[in-house]
Order: sequence, then C-alpha cells, then structure tokens
Amino acid sequence: MAIVITVAQQKGGTGKTTLAANLAAALAPSRKTALLDIDPQHSLTRWHELRPQTAARLTFSDVSGWRVTGELDRLKSAHEIVIIDSPPQIDTDARLAIRGANLVLIPVQPSPPDIWAAEGTLKLAANEKRRAAIVLNRVPSSGKLRETMTAQMQQDGKPLLTATIGNRTGFAAAFAEGLGVTEAAPRSIAANELRALLSELLEMIE
Ligand SMILES: Nc1ncnc2c1ncn2[C@@H]1O[C@H](COP(=O)(O)OP(=O)(O)OP(=O)(O)O)[C@@H](O)[C@H]1O
Ligand SMILES: [Mg+2]
Repeated sequence: MAIVITVAQQKGGTGKTTLAANLAAALAPSRKTALLDIDPQHSLTRWHELRPQTAARLTFSDVSGWRVTGELDRLKSAHEIVIIDSPPQIDTDARLAIRGANLVLIPVQPSPPDIWAAEGTLKLAANEKRRAAIVLNRVPSSGKLRETMTAQMQQDGKPLLTATIGNRTGFAAAFAEGLGVTEAAPRSIAANELRALLSELLEMIE
C-alpha cells in the first residue's frame, strides 16, 4: 500500500502545486509514484500535460467530488507513493485528501498571514488524527525572516521541518517545461533544497 502525502494549505499561492510537482518528479526515478490533482484550477494537470515523454514516468489523475476516495484507493494499490495537490480552501475534497494522507505537508511563506492560515489546516489534520508538517517556502535569501518565523513557530510548538525552500526562479522555469527542479537543473540550490525536503519527509513516514 502506498504512502500518501497531501499538500494542503487553505491560503492561495503558498506553493502547494509547485511542491507536489517537484516532490513527485524527484521521486519518480526511484519509486512508483502517482500524482492526484483535486484542485479545480488544475495547474498540476497543466504541468503534467507539458511533461516530456522522456521524463521519468508518473501516474497522473485529476478527479473531484465523490470520486476522490475511490481514485485514491485505486492509486494506492498500484503505487509506492501518492502525492495529492489540494485546492486553496478547506472543502469536502480537501478534507477527504487529508483523511487519506499519511502526512499532510503545509507550505508556508515566511509571513504572519501564511502562518495564521496554516493553523486551520493543522487543526483539520489534528481532527483527522493525521500527522502534519510545515515547510517554509519562498524564503528570501537575505534578511532575518527565516529566523524570526522559525523561532515563532517553534515557540508555538508548530511541526516545522528543518528543510526550507528558498525563493528560486528555477521552480517556475522547470514548471514551464513540465519538469521538477531536480530534473531541469539537478545541481541547482533549488534541487538540493528539494532533495533535502524529500529526505526529511521520507524519514518521517517510513
Ligand atoms: N520556492 C519558490 N520559489 C519561487 N517561486 C515559487 C516558489 N514556490 C512557489 N513559487 C511560485 O509561486 C506561485 C504560486 O505557487 P503555486 O501555484 O505552487 O501555489 P499554490 O499554493 O498551489 O497556489 P493555489 O493556492 O492557487 O493552488 C507560482 O508562480 C510559483 O511558481
Ligand atoms: Mg495550486
């Protein structure tokens, strides 16, 4: 049975789709990986449509509504890892995706409104008795934001990962080609950060 990672955060534009695509692309060469897009915006579907034939194979599916649970079960039975990209609101589908997860990954940009928005997702994961982890995304390379936000979240007992992802143009560039940063620019800082995030997540759940 597959491990399921649901990327969720009710605030829009925090990096859910970017991280779902990049984690899946990094996993694809070594694990049987499936991606499930339950966001009606379907940006992950667009990414997958751009994916070159030569790139590592990923199973892709986009469903919504009553079909989410059945589709997730189907993907789980045939893969090692399923990654779900969810919409920027906590609706029924997002709840189902959190219920079906072994781990809920919450991308948060280092600013107070993002952290406040993460609280709703954390509560939902706790209600469903699901493990959750916050990753700081789009961390600026200069300034003290990372330290300030990290200290604040640690003080509040929030489940913050050690790995962080910087604000890197490589993510959009790779996305435009249907690739992850580990494929488009494997030696970039973005790729290193992404691999560190993936290792930390796999260590948590395996
Ligand atoms: N680490 C990063 N560095 C630079 N740009 C990033 C990074 N992560 C995400 N972005 C950019 O931020 C924008 C929003 O990202 P993305 O679409 O992944 O967010 P989302 O949470 O899925 O949004 P929505 O809530 O609308 O589904 C995109 O333009 C993406 O390229
Ligand atoms: Mg998205």
